Amino acid sequence: MKLGYRVVGVDRSPTLAAAASSARPAIPVLLADAAAMPLRDRCADLVVACMSLLDIDDFDGAVSEIGRVLRPGGRLCLAVVHPFMSAQDEDTMHTPSFRFSRPYLEPRRYVDHVERDGLAMTFTSMHRPLTGYVCALAANGMMISALSEGGGGNIPWLLAARADKITR
Ligand SMILES: C[S@@+](CC[C@H](N)C(=O)[O-])C[C@H]1O[C@@H](n2cnc3c(N)ncnc32)[C@H](O)[C@@H]1O
Repeated sequence: MKLGYRVVGVDRSPTLAAAASSARPAIPVLLADAAAMPLRDRCADLVVACMSLLDIDDFDGAVSEIGRVLRPGGRLCLAVVHPFMSAQDEDTMHTPSFRFSRPYLEPRRYVDHVERDGLAMTFTSMHRPLTGYVCALAANGMMISALSEGGGGNIPWLLAARADKITR
C-alpha cells in the first residue's frame, strides 16, 4: 500500500476477516466467499492465495473467480501444503518417517493438528495432487510460470507457485 497499490482482502470467516482488517497497516477486507467475490471482472493485477485454496469448499469456483478478476497479464501467487505431504497418512505427517495408505492421485479431505507458539490449531483441508492445481488453473486461463518447493525434513511441506493469466 505504501507503494501505491490498492489492496483488498477476501475471507469468509467473520472472525478472521475482522482480525485481518484490524492488522497494521489496516487493509479493507471483504467478508465473502472466494467462490463468489464481489469484485469486478479483470480488476486485479495480482491475486495472492496463501494457504487458502486447500481450505475452500468450492475449489473450482474459487479458481474460476480468480481467473475472472485477474486482468490478462495479471498474476496469481499461491501457496499450499505440498501434495506429497498431504498425501501421507495423518498420523505420519509430522514424523520423520511417512506412510501412504491411499492413492496420491485421489483428492480427499484430511485433518492436520498443529501446535505453534503454544497455540493448538486444527486444519481441515483438501489433499489434491499437483495435477489438480495445474488443470484447474489451465481451465481458467492461468499458466504456471514459476514453482518452488520448500521446508525442512525429508520431504517438502510447502508448494508455492506463480501463474500468469494468459491473454485470451
Ligand atoms: C489456513 S488459513 C490461511 C490464512 C492466511 N492466508 C495465512 O496464510 O495465514 C485459510 C483461510 O482461508 C479462509 N477461507 C476458507 N474458506 C474460504 C472461502 N470459501 N472463502 C474465503 N475465504 C475462505 C479461512 O477463513 C482462513 O482465513
